[in-house]
Amino acid sequence: MTIISSDIHKAVEILSNEDVVAIPTETVYGLAGNIYSETAINRIFEVKQRPLFNPLIVHLHSAEQLDDIVIEFPQKAKLLADHFWPGPLTLILKKSDSIPDQITAGKDTVGVRIPNHPVTLELLKALPFPLAAPSANPFNRISPTQAKHVEDYFQDQIKMVLEGGDCQRGLESTIVGFPNGEPVIYRYGSIPLEDIEGIVGTLQVKNKSETATPDAPGMLAKHYAPMTKTILVDDLQGTLSQYKELRIGVIKFSGSEITQDNVHTVILSPNADLAEAASILYHTLHQLDRLNLDIIIAERLPDQGLGKSMNDRLERATK
Ligand code: TXA
Ligand code: MG
Repeated sequence: MTIISSDIHKAVEILSNEDVVAIPTETVYGLAGNIYSETAINRIFEVKQRPLFNPLIVHLHSAEQLDDIVIEFPQKAKLLADHFWPGPLTLILKKSDSIPDQITAGKDTVGVRIPNHPVTLELLKALPFPLAAPSANPFNRISPTQAKHVEDYFQDQIKMVLEGGDCQRGLESTIVGFPNGEPVIYRYGSIPLEDIEGIVGTLQVKNKSETATPDAPGMLAKHYAPMTKTILVDDLQGTLSQYKELRIGVIKFSGSEITQDNVHTVILSPNADLAEAASILYHTLHQLDRLNLDIIIAERLPDQGLGKSMNDRLERATK
């Protein structure tokens, strides 16, 4: 039985025994283990069925811990950290020798972030080691934004989900690397591109990649996918008229419901608020995926701010 509980002491006990615990963050739930325990890290890869070439993000409670973890902290990385931590920003920095290769898939860089969730910050402070935590979903599936999603995925395979309520942001962290000392976006996420540029100026985006071992494997073309066939469209009405015979789930940003008997509509934000839409996008995909529909049709979001991040995820869900 998986326990779903907010008992931080229990989580500390399990993690100290080199086992894994699912933890809440403001973005999505993560599957966490001691970064220095080979047993715990192996277990993360095993439970997630994640390929070993895909490195893990290290979660900290304070930037002071970076001294043990990275050997360089470029000026622009520091500006971003000062502005967005704790928060949904992952920085890819040159790693120190003490970070096991298992975490970084042999790379000389490591992903780090300070999550902004009170329960997980308290947990991190109570532990003598940082936590590696990929999103708590099986490889290629939709990330979990509720404890229940994690339980449904892993059942008895993990001992505990640390309860932290619904994830407020609902999309993974934005990842920024510094391959030549200058910032590059590796993954769109919960911090809009425009907000990052507001701090460090215009930057390069390497979010899209079709290669097998991309710089950040979250960039793999197919990812974040429901089991139900899912498509992303610009012309919703036109597409609906082509699928009259099917049971359809529709995801719309705002506006009104589709009044057609074969259609189940979810409006992400009646007030057309991108942050609200982002916070329930994954939950909506989880929900629609349970309805045994023939197809899920998502309407493309406005291509700005968090709309860009959501379109990115929907594109990967529909490959
Ligand atoms: O919001 C988040 O970032 C969540 C929560 C749990 O913190 N975590 C998350 O982890 O999304 P994961 O493992 O699902 O995605 C991490 C991404 C992967 O695409 C991985 O390739 C990239 O971060 N990454 C990690 N370390 C890296 C490194 N050294 N170089 C390049 N990419 C890296
Ligand atoms: Mg993930």
